[in-house]
Amino acid sequence: YTMLVLNGPNLGHLGERQPEIYGSQGMDAVPNLVKDLLGANADRVGLEFDQHNSEGALIDRLELARAQGVDGVVFNAGAYTHTSLAIADCLAWIQIPCVEVHLSNIWARTDQPLRQQSLLGRQAVGVIAGFGILGYAMAVAALVQRLDKA
Ligand code: DQA
Repeated sequence: YTMLVLNGPNLGHLGERQPEIYGSQGMDAVPNLVKDLLGANADRVGLEFDQHNSEGALIDRLELARAQGVDGVVFNAGAYTHTSLAIADCLAWIQIPCVEVHLSNIWARTDQPLRQQSLLGRQAVGVIAGFGILGYAMAVAALVQRLDKA
């Protein structure tokens, strides 16, 4: 399977950005976490990583994934999660199974209620939040299982 691991705004410096909330490891640690979780199955997955700060660039990338025939998307849209009807509309039509990922547990951030809602969640096959970068590997594992059953 080919999978796109896509990050949205302010996730280009993961590890440096507010590590007390988002962790001190960068995305470069994700492939090893995938190997740990998937074992031999990891060889069946080709991961492509990308990150964009702007909404339109994220939509362009998702449309490209559709054109490429990408099998699954692991997507942390950052703050666009809470605001972007445009990205939700894109996920609704491209029809690639998508797992929404958040480093922090957005529902536990009760000091910022806006973060507790996701406009993208209804277009996702599932949501993983609160496990830091391990969440990306968990999402890859979940997509492999789902695609195997399809
Ligand atoms: C985030 C949560 C969002 O509220 C925030 O805007 C981010 C990161 C997370 O991974 O926990 O940029 O998506």
